[in-house]
Amino acid sequence: MDKIIIAGGRRLAGQVRVSGSKNAALPILFSALLADGVNRYDNVPNLRDIDSTLLLLARLGARVESGGPSVRIDASGLNCHEAPYDLVRKMRASVLVLGPLVARLKRARVSLPGGCAIGARPINLHLKGLASLGAEITLEHGYVTASAERLKGAEIYFDIVTVTGTENLMMAAVLAEGTTMLRNAAREPEVVALADVLNRMGADIAGAGTPEITIRGVRALKPVTATIIPDRIETGTFMVAAALTGGHVTITDCEPGHVGATIDKLRQAGAEVVVSGSTITVTGRDKITSVDIKTQPYPGFPTDMQAQFMVLMSVADGLSVISETIFENRFIHVSELRRMGADIQVAGNIATIKGMPRLSGAPVMATDLRASACLVLAGLVADNTTVVQRVYHLDRGYEDLEKKFAALGAAIKRVK
Ligand code: EPU
Repeated sequence: MDKIIIAGGRRLAGQVRVSGSKNAALPILFSALLADGVNRYDNVPNLRDIDSTLLLLARLGARVESGGPSVRIDASGLNCHEAPYDLVRKMRASVLVLGPLVARLKRARVSLPGGCAIGARPINLHLKGLASLGAEITLEHGYVTASAERLKGAEIYFDIVTVTGTENLMMAAVLAEGTTMLRNAAREPEVVALADVLNRMGADIAGAGTPEITIRGVRALKPVTATIIPDRIETGTFMVAAALTGGHVTITDCEPGHVGATIDKLRQAGAEVVVSGSTITVTGRDKITSVDIKTQPYPGFPTDMQAQFMVLMSVADGLSVISETIFENRFIHVSELRRMGADIQVAGNIATIKGMPRLSGAPVMATDLRASACLVLAGLVADNTTVVQRVYHLDRGYEDLEKKFAALGAAIKRVK
């Protein structure tokens, strides 16, 4: 298994290009199931989760061709309605096939994803929404089956803001008969990106990016050529890395409008952040000021940046409080950060961090995607050497992270 080895203490400097967004690409690739013909997607990141998605699409009968950041998917041959356990187990976002498959094949059988390291993550709201659209839902032998001759538009209220729940129901409703209203919908940029692609396929969706999305069902969709938006979490991760190492880093090909909450917190922490078009330049200062963070649905501070920000607060001047309100178990990185000398106390969903002058390099274990990124960041400022194990978590969602850090001057390498 690969490991990443980091000799900490270098200031990062230079330019880094952000890749396409994982969480935008996943639902968009699944939306290819909604039309016959060749869809083409550009700026698709090279990630394990993308490989899992393409494998599942091929399993369902789609023709998949991928070459570098371009992917072509033709679902004309769609002939299977089942997402099996062995694929869903590897990537819970596989549940995004539910909506498109019921809409297109009238039925779907999908393995229930179960919990993961960061929380229980049920899909009850996806299923409740599909039932409101008229699907018959059964749960048996670890699988959910949803079927409907033709889905019918309905008014759906989400008890909790759910990103993939909103995306799944949007994909189910585009081919439904009549109008669907999604209330308390997720406002994440990835939801907007999916709605844009669906509209360009011929769907009629209004209000994406607000809590109320209206979807007027249409008979059929046509294929599309689309470019995946930049990854806002990768952008934020490089921004924190620059601030953390007292560096001077320009992040290119990003969407500054999507990282407003992170920019705000970094400025409060004392970093200089300059936005110009699609680039962001972050200059770190020797003194990092402690700030409090509360994770929230977009446009609040993203849960996917919480672990990375915790590293920054671990070497800040003073005490900071981080509240995680989205997932119930998203502090698993704390015990590894403590092994690197961080002073962090956790009570329920609140972590209190007392900044230390520095961290101390150690062998550590990655437990989930963003926790892995946080350990790499910690290694960049720790003295001595940090070895991050189980980096397959990192490969699920960051394209060439260690190469990008190395190009910015970090002493970092991957060993097989
Ligand atoms: N929830 C329910 N029932 C549901 C759906 C969600 O109770 O039916 C709860 C979840 O358990 C959680 C909260 O609602 O407590 C929000 O979860 P959400 O459904 O929004 O999360 P998700 O759609 O499964 C996406 C991202 C995550 C990101 C979250 C929150 C994708 C593929 N994944 O997950 O990304 O953390 O939204 O922003 O878009 C990551 O990239 O590392 C990652 C975990």
